[in-house]
Amino acid sequence: MDLISKMNSKSLKKIIKDIRARADKKKTDISDHLETLFAECLNIEAGLIVELGVGDGESTFVLERVANLWGAKLVSVDIEDCRKVSKFKDRVFVRQDDISFAAEFPDWCRARGINPVIDILFIDTSHLYDHTVAEIQSWFPYLAPRCKVFFHDTNMSEIFVRKDGSTGKGWNNSRGVIRAIEEHLGVRFDETSDFSLMYNGWFIKHYAICNGFMIMEK
Ligand SMILES: C[S@@+](CC[C@H](N)C(=O)[O-])C[C@H]1O[C@@H](n2cnc3c(N)ncnc32)[C@H](O)[C@@H]1O
Repeated sequence: MDLISKMNSKSLKKIIKDIRARADKKKTDISDHLETLFAECLNIEAGLIVELGVGDGESTFVLERVANLWGAKLVSVDIEDCRKVSKFKDRVFVRQDDISFAAEFPDWCRARGINPVIDILFIDTSHLYDHTVAEIQSWFPYLAPRCKVFFHDTNMSEIFVRKDGSTGKGWNNSRGVIRAIEEHLGVRFDETSDFSLMYNGWFIKHYAICNGFMIMEK
């Protein structure tokens, strides 16, 4: 069952309104993608959501609402102390390097009665090539057969542009994130454009704006 069938539209409208208000009030490098992140999570029944890279909690704000709707656990991981960005009761914050945590993940889950199978994986950490390669290698084995993976920062440069034409300061990561995804899939993308395609069992959507956002679904 999808969430739209499960919930009344009034509650959904309220959540979307709150997400829009946050994105409007606080313009960041991910603000244009918050509503998309939420909407994309409505058709994937989630028991476990893993967020790699918490920062100031923009993605957490969305993912905790998704977890609440589905009755899912949200595991948020960051090397810095980002405990306080959310008080959501079903969120567990782990302060650790995400690659070393991945190695412990099945045991860590079992010790807490969690099935270590990820329905929604969100990745927004260093944006570096080697690290993204390691994240894909370390975390993809835990994905459920039907899952969604979100990558932020697939289209980075010195300046990023939002939908409203406003700009922010970025940096050139030498295509670190998108290159790691391309090599994993064995395909080449033009990350400066919006696209959607089927490839190797994945349905892939990409938004070039606001540092780039890729959604991989299977
Ligand atoms: C761009 S911020 C995340 C922004 C956040 N997703 C949001 O929407 O507000 C990147 C975060 O990744 C974290 N990070 C960087 N390298 C990491 C690693 N190896 N393991 C875990 N977290 C890491 C940083 O500490 C930082 O908080």
